[in-house]
This record gives sequence, C-alpha cells and structure tokens, in this order.
Amino acid sequence: MHEDIKTILLTQEQIAARVQEMGRQITEDYQGRELIVVVLLKGAAWFATDLTRAIDMPVRVDFMVASSYGNGTSTSGSVKVKLDISENIAGKDVLVIDDIIDSGVTFAAISEMLRQCRPASLKTAALCDKAERRVNGLEADYVGFKIPDEFVVGYGLDYAGDYRNLPYIGVLKPAVYARK
Ligand code: IMP
Ligand code: MG
Repeated sequence: MHEDIKTILLTQEQIAARVQEMGRQITEDYQGRELIVVVLLKGAAWFATDLTRAIDMPVRVDFMVASSYGNGTSTSGSVKVKLDISENIAGKDVLVIDDIIDSGVTFAAISEMLRQCRPASLKTAALCDKAERRVNGLEADYVGFKIPDEFVVGYGLDYAGDYRNLPYIGVLKPAVYARK
C-alpha cells in the first residue's frame, strides 16, 4: 500500500467485479441501440476503459475535459469545459461517465450542456458516489459504489494530479493535504 494512503476502500478485485456487473446492466438497458459514451477526463479514463470493454454492444467513445476543482478537495462550484466532444450526438443515446459524483455540480452542468445538442437520451454513470455531499439532489443513473464522505484517490481519482495510477481506491491521509 502507498505510504500516503490511510485505508484501502475498494480493492482492485472489488472494482473489477463491480465494473463487469455495470457493463452487463448497461448492455441490457441499451439492447439494440447504439451508445455514445462521453468520458470526463482525466479521472474517468481508468473506469471508462474498463467499463466500455464490459459493454457487449456497439459503443462509440468521446472525451471531454471539464473541471471544477482547483487543487483542493472540494468543488469551486463552476464547471469549465477545456475540451469539448467531437462526435455529433444529436439523436443518439449518450452516457456520460465520471469517476465520482460528489456535489453533483459536474454532472448537472455537463448534462445541461450536452442536452443542447439534442441527444435521444442522456444518462450518467459514476464509479463512486458520495451521496451525502450532494448539493442539487442529482442521482447518477449507474453507480458502482456508494462511499462515505472521505477524500479518495486511485483508479483515476487524484489529489492535485497525483495517485491516479493506484490500482485500488483508498482514503488519502489527511496529513497529505497539510503538506502540499
Ligand atoms: P462534483 O462536481 O462535486 O460532483 O465532483 C465531481 C468531481 O470532483 C470528480 O470528477 C472528481 O474529479 C472530483 N472529486 C470529488 N470527490 C473526489 C474525491 O474524493 N477524490 C478525488 N476527486 C474527487
Ligand atoms: Mg474529475
């Protein structure tokens, strides 16, 4: 275990098993349709590459860079798009994928932007969900794990750009925030 991690919340095995289940569910739900997933970079890249490979139907993949976080551990409240999608999503079934839903501000803002492109449907998927932190009542359509209100890193999730490549999801030692 990395020295900056207090506890492992989700092991590599737990994540892999849940992602397979989510892939099966999405495959069932979108039967006979064509899905475009919009991956919110950078954090959702790890989850999305595993999830899309667990979906057994045609899937197109697009990316967006949106950020609301500075280098702290809570949202700044406004979402900026730094890289927009390149696919035409009008009339298509769209699934937006993020690593974690926290305040809900990111999914709310991105969904509102993408709806202006008139997709046939628009849903959201997040590997982790900190439901207690929600400010807008938003629920993701697909959630991997409901987790407690602690700052977690790994499997794409970062603190100030670090720890994304940890294969598990762990709680960061609070001492790390004080140090940086
Ligand atoms: P929201 O807009 O508050 O729902 O936050 C979503 C974004 O916040 C995610 O894409 C993450 O980048 C970031 N985030 C929220 N909680 C955590 C966490 O515990 N660890 C790392 N990133 C987080
Ligand atoms: Mg993010």
